[in-house]
Amino acid sequence: MNKQKIVIVGTGFVGMSFAYSLVNQGVGEEIVLIDINKAKAEGEAMDLNHGLSFSPKRMHIYAGDYPDCKDAMVVVIAAGVNQKPGETRLSLLQRNAQIIESVVISIMASGFNGVLLMATNPVDILTHIAWRASGLPASQVIGSGTSLDTARLRYEIAKKLEINVSNIHAYILGEHGDSEFVCWSSAVVGVKPLKDVIATYSKLKFEDLEIIYQQVKNAAYEIISRKQASYYGIGMVLTYITKAIIHDEHRIIPLSVLHNGLYDAENIYIGLPAVVSRLGIHHVVQLNLNDQEKKSLKDSSEVLMTLYQKLNN
Ligand SMILES: NC(=O)c1ccc[n+]([C@@H]2O[C@H](COP(=O)([O-])OP(=O)(O)OC[C@H]3O[C@@H](n4cnc5c(N)ncnc54)[C@H](O)[C@@H]3O)[C@@H](O)[C@H]2O)c1
Repeated sequence: MNKQKIVIVGTGFVGMSFAYSLVNQGVGEEIVLIDINKAKAEGEAMDLNHGLSFSPKRMHIYAGDYPDCKDAMVVVIAAGVNQKPGETRLSLLQRNAQIIESVVISIMASGFNGVLLMATNPVDILTHIAWRASGLPASQVIGSGTSLDTARLRYEIAKKLEINVSNIHAYILGEHGDSEFVCWSSAVVGVKPLKDVIATYSKLKFEDLEIIYQQVKNAAYEIISRKQASYYGIGMVLTYITKAIIHDEHRIIPLSVLHNGLYDAENIYIGLPAVVSRLGIHHVVQLNLNDQEKKSLKDSSEVLMTLYQKLNN
């Protein structure tokens, strides 16, 4: 396996924001771009190569095909189709599920045995589909889950508190979607519980927490209503996750992982904090959720299970 080889399937806004971020941060050495529209992948590779003079690292970037996945450390899937006018979300999901299944079968036919990272939405369900189609251990098939939502949450708290975002530790868990929730009980600023910070700091009040949650939950809708798609944030999140894999960082990131019984939830892919290593998920972290958070996680997993079952009927 080439530890520095990353394949991106789907060279649209998300796939290319990810690739651009990899090049700017110097993550990986070989980047392969695959798209059903081969000319698009070729054009994107040419464009990125012309920026290599300004990358911190020497890199090999090219448009490729599925056999190139064989020795890749990470394959990131950002391929998908958009909603047609009048199309239901379920029908869109069915079309994207078929695409993901066929993409994963092609990836696996190469002999790939690295980490499969899903970004296409609805990411939890499609990660589950990808895992089933791949035959890989669940630890090697992960979705971006609530990592972007968590980044948005940390940004909003940091802005209110005027404290660097790297000192804000708080997770959004559950579905990457409407049933996600904030795990406020474990939120800390530096080493101080967020509730203690609020008690002593006038710029953030308990009432603000619900407003922040709503802002984060609706962020994608707000961005899409203004610019049709969201991509820079997820591109940088995917770089962060990929870096954790290829550098074997053992970093905790909230990702879509197969629920392994640690929490009271359905046996489904859902956003939970997990330690990420070069093998994918090293282990899922068990938090002390309060009763409300336990209920939110259960409800969210039921939403996902219902959708997953509808898709399979
Ligand atoms: N996980 C997250 O947090 C998050 C955030 C933002 C967007 N997304 C999701 O990422 C996905 C991609 O979004 P986008 O804005 O890049 O879309 P896009 O339409 O710009 O790009 C999709 C790309 O997929 C390609 N494609 C379609 N079918 C394919 C196939 N069978 N094989 C290979 N390539 C194929 C298309 O040619 C296109 O280049 C969407 O599902 C979007 O909802 C996820």
